[in-house]
Amino acid sequence: MQVVSISSLKGGVGKTSVTTGLASAALAAGIPTLVVDLDPHADATTALGVQPAGQLDIGRMLKNPRKARLNENVAASGWVGQIPAGTGSPALANGHAVLDVAVGSAYTGIYDRPDLGRRDLRRLSAVLAGAGSYQLVLVDCPPSLNGLTRMAWNASNRVVLVAEPGLFSVAGTERTMRAIQLFRQEFAPQLSPAGIVANRVRSGSSEHGFRLAEMESMFGELLLTPHIPEQANWQQIQGAAHAVHHWPGDSAKGTAKLFDTLLENLLASNGHAPSNGQRERRR
Ligand SMILES: Nc1ncnc2c1ncn2[C@@H]1O[C@H](COP(=O)(O)OP(=O)(O)OP(=O)(O)O)[C@@H](O)[C@H]1O
Ligand SMILES: [Mg+2]
Repeated sequence: MQVVSISSLKGGVGKTSVTTGLASAALAAGIPTLVVDLDPHADATTALGVQPAGQLDIGRMLKNPRKARLNENVAASGWVGQIPAGTGSPALANGHAVLDVAVGSAYTGIYDRPDLGRRDLRRLSAVLAGAGSYQLVLVDCPPSLNGLTRMAWNASNRVVLVAEPGLFSVAGTERTMRAIQLFRQEFAPQLSPAGIVANRVRSGSSEHGFRLAEMESMFGELLLTPHIPEQANWQQIQGAAHAVHHWPGDSAKGTAKLFDTLLENLLASNGHAPSNGQRERRR
């Protein structure tokens, strides 16, 4: 099981959008996936079309991890059934249409303090001890480096940072990268940065071109490819609680393919090459 946190110091740069784009790619590929909505605003839960039906939300599971019974309290994403498994990346083709959500709620806010102790930092890891049936866990973090993000890092193997190609965002990404290194030394030796996703990239913008070149020279291979472009109908897709892989039109299809490749690169950079069976199917 891969646990990947999607984080940023800055708000509104596209953490939830990258989380849901990767979740859409994972569902289309048939990779059994859990999205943990750790942001008290619960945007990922909304975008994933979850109909709550009495499950414990993630805040309440964190309150009492030993009684969390994750498997009984996840909700299926409304996207399941929209996208047949096997329509995503052929390189990752797997065949299990599972996309579950640990439902977000304002209750998680009680842990978003700067002074969270070691015991509290382990709460998400303890809840995820029940996540063995998933191949991939994506944790959508709130826009700060407070308790919730640190709890997510403590439970993760990898962190994806999201940044827009702008001056403040690039500086914020460098600070977050340093924070990850410090956190790793002190609390989480298993954690490594998976890389940085550049989001809302405008191909015709010389400022964006300049900032991307700057990020490439600062972060080298940690700047993941492909970059995600500014997409005119992105809010419409999210507002309709649809998967990008299920949205009609060429621009959504193009973005869906970018997320397929991003997911492939993310999993491959952790040594997760496709199995022999998967290679066979690709031929
Ligand atoms: N590639 C994109 N193209 C167009 N709009 C985008 C793109 N990525 C994100 N957005 C829009 O930008 C806004 C912020 O995106 P999102 O909610 O994903 O960011 P976030 O980092 O999760 O925000 P927060 O810090 O509030 O959690 C949303 O309205 C979203 O629809
Ligand atoms: Mg968000």
